[in-house]
Amino acid sequence: TGCFTYDPGFTATAACKSAITYIDGDNGVLLYRGYPIEQLAKQSSFLEVAYLLMNGELPNKAQFDKFDHEVAHHTMMHEAFKNFLGGFRHDAHPMAMLVGMVGSMASFYHNTLDLEDPEQRRLAAIRLIAKVPTIAAACYRYSIGWPVRFPRNNLEYVDRFLHMMFEVPSEPLELPPVAAKALDLLFILHADHEQNASTSTVRLVGSTGANPYACVAAGVAALWGPAHGGANEAVLKMLAEIGDAKNVQSAVDKAKDKESGFRLMGFGHRVYKNFDPRAKIIREMTYQVLNDLGVNDPLLDVAIKLEEAALKDDYFVQRKLYPNVDFYSGIIYKALKIPTEMFTVMFAIARTAGWVAHWLEQQEDPDAKIGRPRQIYTGYDKRDYADIGKR
Ligand code: CMC
Repeated sequence: TGCFTYDPGFTATAACKSAITYIDGDNGVLLYRGYPIEQLAKQSSFLEVAYLLMNGELPNKAQFDKFDHEVAHHTMMHEAFKNFLGGFRHDAHPMAMLVGMVGSMASFYHNTLDLEDPEQRRLAAIRLIAKVPTIAAACYRYSIGWPVRFPRNNLEYVDRFLHMMFEVPSEPLELPPVAAKALDLLFILHADHEQNASTSTVRLVGSTGANPYACVAAGVAALWGPAHGGANEAVLKMLAEIGDAKNVQSAVDKAKDKESGFRLMGFGHRVYKNFDPRAKIIREMTYQVLNDLGVNDPLLDVAIKLEEAALKDDYFVQRKLYPNVDFYSGIIYKALKIPTEMFTVMFAIARTAGWVAHWLEQQEDPDAKIGRPRQIYTGYDKRDYADIGKR
């Protein structure tokens, strides 16, 4: 019953109009506000990209300085957050903590938030971009029993985050320049990807007029799954299972065998059927990171051998299965000593820029309606209730 179009997974339904991100999956094109990802990766910074996504144009110097200052001004967490953090088990998954902590921001900024006021909406977006890294680093430090570190607001966005993660009071943190550079690049590449599952979730929740912090918390939850942001964690788990470069060929053979149910994690993409333009960019950086840091890690060896073996294997070549962005992002995070459980959190920090841009766009969209999909009903026809003794 019902004359609706059946489109599971919304593969053929445009749920909104958006001027933020353009993807041409067949030709490997990704544009943010019209700018090719390759140019942004080379010339821009994550914070500038966040401004671009939110505002539609690249900032001039004065606009960027103001934005940078505003973000820095909002990096602190309310002290009460620490009580909340302390309620989690020490071994809680950091994504579970992030969902809760971001959602709890609504409790700090709800009564005073007037969603009709564009300036207040903008401020909510800035608070999210500013505070998600602080929360993320706090979750990590809590998980290893370290006290939460104040954000150092004289540092740039990515540097500030790395200091909150790893700095201890008595020792200045010596960060190789490639670390911040690689992280900034990854954040740019992950900043937005049009109507993916988590962004669509933010929009669906946003369509009800819910608090923006609650909307973004819902986005974090959607990102967590291994079919979405959790893929980078799955890549590292797979590499650990393969364990040694000598097992690579048998893993590739297993992935080709449909009976095995095993796929190479980090290979293939739903939209990009030729190549993932983000992967092309990050591949180069991966080799630079490994080289500059002189990393000697057997799992990274496995990753490189796996990439080599798959790229020259007919099965993968014919099906156009290339490594996607998450194959390399996991390797870089590992080389930067970011623990595997934090990988999806890293993705969430970057994607917050896209989520808030979409939420802002939706709030201004005159066509926006409450999201309310229909269904094809497959249950019983009408029937009568029977008393419990007669069933
Ligand atoms: N390993 C082995 N075979 C594969 C793989 C893989 N990773 N991916 C696809 N195939 C095969 C698949 O078996 C099928 O073969 P055949 O034509 O003989 O039946 C063919 O390639 C086409 O695959 P598909 O399942 O129709 O492709 P899809 O568009 O439905 O799936 C995908 C895309 C990303 C879900 C899939 O490639 C996959 O499972 N990859 C591994 C998981 C992964 O890395 N996910 C991260 C995606 S990027 C992160 C993000 O954007 O959030």
